[in-house]
Amino acid sequence: CNYLVEKSRGEIIDTLVDGLQRLEYRGYDSTGIAIDGDEPDSTLVYKQIGKVSALKEEIAEHHPKRDVTFVSHCGIAHTRWATHGEPKQVNCHPQKSDPTGEFVIVHNGIITNFRELKTLLSNKGYSFESDTDTECIAKLFKHLYDTNIQNGNELDFHELTKLVLLELEGSYGLLCRSSHYPDEVMATRKGSPLLIGVKSEKKLKVDFVDVEFPDDNAQPETPLVSERSNGLASSRNLTVNGGRKVRLFDHEDRGNSNLLPIAANEFNLRHSQSRAFLSEDGTPNPVEFFLSSDASSVIKHTKKVLFLEDNDIAHIYDGEIHIHRSRREVGASMTRSIQTLEMELAQIMKGPYKHFMQKEIFEQPESTLNTMRGRIDFENNSVMLGGLQAWLPAIRRARRLIMIACGTSYHSCLATRAIFEELSEIPVSVELASDFLDRKSPVFRDDICVFVSQSGETADTMLALNYCLERGALTVGIVNSVGSSISRITHCGVHINAGPEIGVASTKAYTSQYIALVMVALSLSDDRVSKIERRGDIMQGLKKIPQQIKEVLQLEGKIKQLCEKDLKDQKSLLLLGRGYQFASALEGALKIKEISYMHSEGVLAGELKHGVLALVDEDLPIIAFGTRDSLFPKVVSSIEQVTARKGHPIVICNKNDEVWEKKAATTKMVTLEVPQTVDCLQGLLNIIPLQLISYWLAVNKGIDVDFPRNLAKSVTVE
Ligand code: G6P
Repeated sequence: CNYLVEKSRGEIIDTLVDGLQRLEYRGYDSTGIAIDGDEPDSTLVYKQIGKVSALKEEIAEHHPKRDVTFVSHCGIAHTRWATHGEPKQVNCHPQKSDPTGEFVIVHNGIITNFRELKTLLSNKGYSFESDTDTECIAKLFKHLYDTNIQNGNELDFHELTKLVLLELEGSYGLLCRSSHYPDEVMATRKGSPLLIGVKSEKKLKVDFVDVEFPDDNAQPETPLVSERSNGLASSRNLTVNGGRKVRLFDHEDRGNSNLLPIAANEFNLRHSQSRAFLSEDGTPNPVEFFLSSDASSVIKHTKKVLFLEDNDIAHIYDGEIHIHRSRREVGASMTRSIQTLEMELAQIMKGPYKHFMQKEIFEQPESTLNTMRGRIDFENNSVMLGGLQAWLPAIRRARRLIMIACGTSYHSCLATRAIFEELSEIPVSVELASDFLDRKSPVFRDDICVFVSQSGETADTMLALNYCLERGALTVGIVNSVGSSISRITHCGVHINAGPEIGVASTKAYTSQYIALVMVALSLSDDRVSKIERRGDIMQGLKKIPQQIKEVLQLEGKIKQLCEKDLKDQKSLLLLGRGYQFASALEGALKIKEISYMHSEGVLAGELKHGVLALVDEDLPIIAFGTRDSLFPKVVSSIEQVTARKGHPIVICNKNDEVWEKKAATTKMVTLEVPQTVDCLQGLLNIIPLQLISYWLAVNKGIDVDFPRNLAKSVTVE
């Protein structure tokens, strides 16, 4: 949205399309945009299945006049990952209320009661052209608008939105523009992320803002925004002034965050004007707003962003943002701060690498170091996690700890569970978020629930988090994306600081999550004398990990060859591991199937004889984790069971290990040698060859590594 900033239609289209391109890494199957047409109050909608390049072609075919200029304009755009309705052009967003597009919507999430809504609206004479749940929202807007107009009720855009939201069940991050409200946009979210980037030509005047409450007499005792120990939100003092809460601060005090008012008294809206977007000298301020579900499409334009919260309705018009609530909630935070993003655009570029995934694999010496930076004191063998420190006594008192995650993040929990239990002496269970919810697993007030997520937005993990919060558990977030939903909603947590991960297959986030979880276990045990030695060994082991990962990455040449010869044209692959290496087997198998589409299974080596052995013959490729730890003799025996059945395993083993050197010399066995580290950290090194194997298998097959079919980076639907 631009206000008092002159833009040509060509520039507006390019901005929207470029924003979509920056979201490509998330995975999608179709795209679309909606902008102002040539006639007053008319709308142009372009959409297409496939990549953003297909949308560009679609737009070019229609020859919209690019040199028409707009002083104020709101355009919306979307990349879609199909939930309801297959990827075809009518199902792409934006979705319209009617052929002229009185109301046009883009939407992330799922409206669970859309069938009921569709029936209701069909009975009222609306016909639907798509199979999407989103089309119902557009038609609902029109229906409620028309009904109110007929009753002589001229609603403000946000009042109308509020009425629409009352009818919706499910999750949404949605934007709506309308020919009835030119140059205005509504943005609202529940369960799906949404942020607003603010780019202002003049310095903003934010000397003070008022915060209004629904009932001036009922002033809450508690602070409006409470201090979060993971540093994601900050507490401010409020003074009472004539029955209203007034927040006072000056520019120096403000640092990176400005505060905006939320009109708590929802139906008395224009009254609670935001002065945030007036310039310092009080004159109108040319300003642009960039709304997105993901900061990476916004940072090119501005680093100042405001994260909306669930049930926020942001009404943008005349160069101002007004935030209202769709529900009244006791204790809800009444301010939204503008934060400064740390992310650099260069950070999300590919650099010299062919794919983001390759870049991210090779970034691991640095990303793992960044996870530990400033947190481990290797001289004194101590760990300090700022976002957790205040909560450690409460966590130590717990009778059990539950780790909850999906996909690769789940594997990082499995990989660290044993060391967690060993150091903390608290029983740990590891749960897949969806299964945990399906079972409606009991959660108690004294439980500690740890949520691990790269994106911090995964819908299943979010739902599990809300479930645990409702039951009063203490929640901990282990998250990569700063400012993401999970990092904001959890009580405390640790950012893994791996930097933006773009390849759909998670690589550097895995190793950083692994290290972050080990650091949490180390923190929990820092009061135990009996663990001093073990903790010291682990910390000294961690110190060497970045350099050791560098060494493992040198295997790329050998691995490339292996993929071109031994593993070429194979249909299936088994990975064997036990103890600490079972998680490596599962994660390795996941990498291979998601990127190279080859069937692969991670098998607990101890279970081999209970069924899987039947698959073994001289052709089936098997990768076994044979690095040294207390289970080594058992792993050797499992691998011998394979070779006895004419199998030729590829063994990931430690450098110069005589046992494997001998076997490799006398059989067709291939070894991939990695440095040795402390048993509980060995998985950090062992997973690297698997990441490279999956990458090269996919490249050899000509697969678009960063965007594997049917998968999304951030799965924000259930
Ligand atoms: C998707 C991604 C996986 C990821 C999983 C969990 O399935 O494709 O790579 O591991 O979601 O995502 P999270 O962001 O919660 O770690």
